[in-house]
Amino acid sequence: MIKLGINIDHVATLREARKGKEPDPIWAGALCELAGADIITVHLREDRRHINDRDLRLLRQTVQIKLNLEMADTDEIVKIALEVKPEQVTLVPENREEVTTEGGLDVRSNLKSLTATASKVREAGILVSFFIDPVEDQLLAGRDAGAQFVELHTGSYANAVGEEATARELEKLFTAAQRGQELGLRINAGHGLNYLNVKRILALPHLEELHIGHSIISRAVFVGLDRAVREMLDIVFWLPAPKS
Ligand code: PXP
Repeated sequence: MIKLGINIDHVATLREARKGKEPDPIWAGALCELAGADIITVHLREDRRHINDRDLRLLRQTVQIKLNLEMADTDEIVKIALEVKPEQVTLVPENREEVTTEGGLDVRSNLKSLTATASKVREAGILVSFFIDPVEDQLLAGRDAGAQFVELHTGSYANAVGEEATARELEKLFTAAQRGQELGLRINAGHGLNYLNVKRILALPHLEELHIGHSIISRAVFVGLDRAVREMLDIVFWLPAPKS
């Protein structure tokens, strides 16, 4: 069964709009768990623009489902991950100017550093995932660097305009999911997914986890977080996977 991970960063984004105390992402973590989510994801960015160190540490103490930490491969953040010990870290590229993560990790070009980081993280008993574009060479590099999971970047699929471009992006994801599994990697997917475009992603072969944030938090503004999570769970669990 596919597991649903909820990225709650944007609850903290709203808090930071006033630099105050509410809404508290710790409450969001609890509500997502109560609604039936399988995983809570947060991205501790170098600039702490949304989730901060206090959030991560409190979530570690309060979340009972899997905690997945998205992070850049920097000494400071790796040190924090090793102390906090989430169940999983997902290594992502990070660029201070970006509005959100803009593309997969270039594992091939950063093989040495990512291999060293993956090894430290794995030795601490934490699962290692790399967020990559659906490209064969990045899968090979991910395998060589010691990742256990890859999270396939679904952003180009989500942003594709028209059926032809969408089908092309979907095909890349299908091929990568199949190839990744053959290489011994476990397969996750995420970025830019919403209540409509997630449906075709459910048919990806070997898919274990979906990681979704913005669309669920956006819907929560209108219907509440509990309902927003349950409505996504209804799709992920009950919609028969399409054949293509
Ligand atoms: N997966 C990764 C690796 C991400 O960086 C993000 C965004 O933080 C997501 C999933 C969730 O993306 P979205 O907010 O577009 O659902």
